[in-house]
Amino acid sequence: MSIAAAGLRPHVVGQGTHREDTVFMRTQVAIIGAGPAGLLLGQLLTNAGIDNVVLELRSADYVLSRVRAGVLEEGMAGMLDEAGAGRRMRAEGLPHDGFDLAFDGGHHRIDLHGLSGGKRVMVYGQTEVTHDLMEKRRDTGGLSVYEAVNVQPHDFDGPNPYVTYDKHGTSHRIDCDFVAGCDGFHGVSRRSVPDSAITAYERVYPFGWLGILAEIPPVSHELIYANHPRGFALCSMRSMTRSRYYVQCPLDDRVEDWSDDRFWDEIRRRLPADVAERMVTGPSFEKSIAPLRSFVAEPMRFGRLFLAGDAAHIVPPTGAKGLNLAASDVRYLFDGLREYYADGSSAGIDDYSRRALARVWKAERFSWWMTNTLHRFPDQGAFGQKIQEAELNYLVSSRAASTSLAENYVGLPY
Ligand code: APR
Ligand code: PHB
Repeated sequence: MSIAAAGLRPHVVGQGTHREDTVFMRTQVAIIGAGPAGLLLGQLLTNAGIDNVVLELRSADYVLSRVRAGVLEEGMAGMLDEAGAGRRMRAEGLPHDGFDLAFDGGHHRIDLHGLSGGKRVMVYGQTEVTHDLMEKRRDTGGLSVYEAVNVQPHDFDGPNPYVTYDKHGTSHRIDCDFVAGCDGFHGVSRRSVPDSAITAYERVYPFGWLGILAEIPPVSHELIYANHPRGFALCSMRSMTRSRYYVQCPLDDRVEDWSDDRFWDEIRRRLPADVAERMVTGPSFEKSIAPLRSFVAEPMRFGRLFLAGDAAHIVPPTGAKGLNLAASDVRYLFDGLREYYADGSSAGIDDYSRRALARVWKAERFSWWMTNTLHRFPDQGAFGQKIQEAELNYLVSSRAASTSLAENYVGLPY
């Protein structure tokens, strides 16, 4: 008997009803977290006629104030189009056909487009992605509850899960068919699963990234990833007038330790001379330090609770994979849910965790490898530096090695 025939098919969302000071509601999919994973899943479900509610701890303004990564694989860009939220990305995003690897005083282009059979990446900030998805959700009447506190999923190991939360002193309960935990690394969804049911794999790196945003033209029209004995550096951008730059720094450094002058001096020292010379500098308007971590929780499904995006896994930013992995999780989860509601088949949702994790681990490997190859580790010494340079030399001189790098960077197939 199919799940639908078994009577588990949902009721469409009803009017909120009051009972004993709790507001009751029903939906098909309750989504926890309004980051890119939650909003993208919500929009695809809405477009497919599947009712959903998004519950977010923070305010919409706070969510939009977070500065995050900005490189979209073609698969992710295509999903934004599919969600109906890709118009501005197509108009204002910057398609990139390659990037530079800088090491040992020189720099070498990786021809992503040529090496990957015609693929490219789109440079478009995650904040913009979130903004566009929020706007689309508003336009299509999707319900999002911001500043929802004490969000808690319940009974997801049985047929009747529900989520409770408080807002403005009122308790709410949403009964649903499924809960999507899209609430990031520090969210409540993964923590609601008993420890005995989950296995976590983790590596914490002994350094962070100090990132700045500045209203200056990027030093190059493509990204530059730099290995240097003083530490890693990255030149990225948000537009042709806004640069996003990073330097590797010790984990115990504080933002206050880094004046703009110190930042510009340090990044210039880590870049090849010709690049450093043409770098335009200016006042930064955002500066933050982020730790680097690799993390995977297995499995990604617990009964009727599914984890997606940072709630299930973290990658160091070196390979620009965090946002893109959130998108591939959503691809598999949305396809499974659509199949369930359209055909009453649970085959897709049953296979969700296996499919998602297979791709997650490949991106984890790639991000770990890029991090190891490009950063200065405390114990690496002169020998370790030489080995990194030899590996980078091999990468840029071997078509096979460059092809592997390009294939992973533009994104493995879903
Ligand atoms: N209840 C409700 N919402 C919560 C809770 C909670 N208890 N805890 C966290 N959240 C919200 C966060 O405020 C955030 O808006 O969940 C959202 C999770 O969004 P992201 O952290 O952006 O994660 P995700 O959507 O998986 O996107 C992955 O975004 O964070 C980057 O590096 C990450 O690039 C990757 C991508
Ligand atoms: C960024 O633009 O913020 C960015 C780009 C590439 C990365 C990481 C971050 O690998």
